Amino acid sequence: MARRLSAARLIVASHNAGKVREIAALLDPLGIEAMGAAALGLAEPEETGETFIANAVLKARAAAEASGEPALADDSGLVVPALDGAPGIYSARWAGPGKDFCVAMDRIEAELAARGVETVGAAAYFVCALSLAWPDGHCETVEGRVDGTLTFPPRGPHGFGYDPIFVPDGHRRTLGEMPPEEKQPLTHRARAFEQLAAFLPPRP
Ligand code: IMP
Repeated sequence: MARRLSAARLIVASHNAGKVREIAALLDPLGIEAMGAAALGLAEPEETGETFIANAVLKARAAAEASGEPALADDSGLVVPALDGAPGIYSARWAGPGKDFCVAMDRIEAELAARGVETVGAAAYFVCALSLAWPDGHCETVEGRVDGTLTFPPRGPHGFGYDPIFVPDGHRRTLGEMPPEEKQPLTHRARAFEQLAAFLPPRP
């Protein structure tokens, strides 16, 4: 049976400061305090799942079990159909150990070019799976997506990850050129959150 959160605090099972910040901003209007897993000293489990949903579930369950509190995990990434879905669930790993997304964005451009695909204007989408897990192992999971096209070279100082090469459909600027309040409602994460609302406390 579906379950609704009653706690006023959620552990955000991520060590990515950009993600924790965006999730905290989405939870704030619901009166829920977000606490990053890094601040609690929780270990990061290995992402062994083969889908965004499987990885979100394993991260949320690990954090809920370790902390004894409900935990929310996000597994997200950029999917480029012309690259057979890459980087997909490997989006973070494409940035290498130094987490340098310039490297990852260059690689997308190089791999598209190597396949003879026009790099500017190539279709892409971001996916976000969100899983809310309780310490007893119960979890509720949803997925959101935003479609767009790629542009090179990367543009814009805002956001994180692949934001500087992603232009959402219906827009001209990249997510990296949009300040947080403009990016946030457009994203895969916001769309997943709309669905997660069914499992969160009603808006005060
Ligand atoms: P993971 O979900 O922690 O495995 O990492 C997902 C990776 O996808 C992040 O490190 C980012 O590189 C990328 N990503 C996810 N969401 C966004 C976004 O909103 N903008 C830009 N990049 C993102």
